[in-house]
Amino acid sequence: MKKLTVNAQSATYDILIEKGILKNCAQYITEHLCGKKVMIITDSNVAPLYLQTVKSAFENTDYSVFTHIFPAGEQNKNLSTVEKIYDSLSENDFTRKDCVLALGGGVCGDIAGFASATYMRGIDFIQIPTTLLSQVDSSVGGKTGVDTRFGKNLVGAFYQPKLVLIDPDTLDTLTKHYFADGMGEVIKYGCIKSVELFDMLNNVDIKENIEDIILECLKIKRDVVNEDERESGIRMILNFGHTAGHSIEKLSDFSLSHGESVAKGMVLITKASEKLGLTKAGSALKIIELCKKCNLNTDVNFSIDDIAQSAKNDKKGSGEKLNIVLLKELGECFIHTIYKNDFAQFLK
Ligand SMILES: NC(=O)c1ccc[n+]([C@@H]2O[C@H](COP(=O)([O-])OP(=O)(O)OC[C@H]3O[C@@H](n4cnc5c(N)ncnc54)[C@H](O)[C@@H]3O)[C@@H](O)[C@H]2O)c1
Ligand SMILES: [Zn+2]
Repeated sequence: MKKLTVNAQSATYDILIEKGILKNCAQYITEHLCGKKVMIITDSNVAPLYLQTVKSAFENTDYSVFTHIFPAGEQNKNLSTVEKIYDSLSENDFTRKDCVLALGGGVCGDIAGFASATYMRGIDFIQIPTTLLSQVDSSVGGKTGVDTRFGKNLVGAFYQPKLVLIDPDTLDTLTKHYFADGMGEVIKYGCIKSVELFDMLNNVDIKENIEDIILECLKIKRDVVNEDERESGIRMILNFGHTAGHSIEKLSDFSLSHGESVAKGMVLITKASEKLGLTKAGSALKIIELCKKCNLNTDVNFSIDDIAQSAKNDKKGSGEKLNIVLLKELGECFIHTIYKNDFAQFLK
C-alpha cells in the first residue's frame, strides 16, 4: 500500500492507494469514526459497479450502512441534489458523530463534500474516488461545492476529508473518454512541477503504471495544499491550462469535459508564451505529443476573442487582472499577472 499524509492548515489526513482496497475499506474507515453510522453517497453509474463491494466491506462490523444514490452527471451537481442528501441524512437520524462516504468521481466528491461541510455545520466525510480525475485531483485538497445557473462551482466550502481511499482497480470500468480526460490533469502535474513525471508518461505504458502515476500526482497536490490550502498563492499553479480551459469548456456548452478542455488550454497558453519568449521553445509541441499518446485532442475550435471574453466574464475572477500560470520550461512554472483586457492579445 502507498500512503501520503496531507498536512493542511485546517486538517491532517491520509491518502491510501492500493489496488483492491475497496473490498477492505471498512477496516481503514472505521479507525476514523466515532459514531456507528455511515451514509454512502454515490451516483447512478457507480452504484451498480461498486456500491455492493463497499457495503459488503462493513458486513462483519457493528456499523449501520445507509445509501443515497443521485442521478449521474454534472447537470446534477446542484443544490437540489444536496438538499435530497440533507433529507436522507435527517431521515436516518445522522448526527455530527456519523460519517459520509463519497463513492464516485469528482461530481460525487464535490456534492457529498459540500453536503458534509454544511449538514449540521459539518459532519465527517471520506473520499473514495473512482475516476482518474478524482483520484489525482478533486478528492484531495478540500474544495467542495456545486454549480448554480450562473456558473460552475459558485457555491462551496473548503472542507477537508478525514481520509482518502484510492482503488486504482476502479479505473478498469472507466470509459476510454474519462480515462483520457483524467490524463489531462495528470499531464498538467508533469508540466508544472515534475519533468520526471512528464518523461515517465512519455516512456511507460500508462495503464500498467497507473498506481505510481497517481502517487506522483498526489505528492505534488499534497505539497501545494500543505503550503496554501485556500489558494491565496502557490495553489494557483494547479490552474495551469485552466484559464483558457474553463473558457473552452464553457464555450462548448460543456460538451467538452474538464480534462480535455484543460489539455487544449495548456497547449494554447504555452504556444502563446513560447512566442513571447517566456517559455522554452518546443514545450508546446511536447505537450501536444504527450496529449496525443493519451487520446487527448488539443485542437481549439473557438476564436481567441471568444476565449478571452469568456475568461473576462468569469464570475470567480475579481478585479481587472488575471493571474495566469505559465511554464518556464517543462516541470517548472510561474504565475504571470496581466490585465484581463490584454488576454486576447497575449493569446494571439
Ligand atoms: N474539488 C476539486 O478540487 C475539483 C478539482 C477538479 C475537478 N473537480 C470537479 O470534478 C468534476 C469532474 O469529475 P469527474 O471527471 O470525475 O466527473 P464525474 O464524477 O461526472 O465522473 C465521470 C463519469 O464517470 C462515471 N464514473 C465514475 N467512476 C466510474 C468508474 N469507476 N467506472 C465507470 N464509470 C464511472 C460517472 O458516473 C460519470 O458518468 C467536475 O464537476 C469538476 O468541477 C473538482
Ligand atoms: Zn482541473
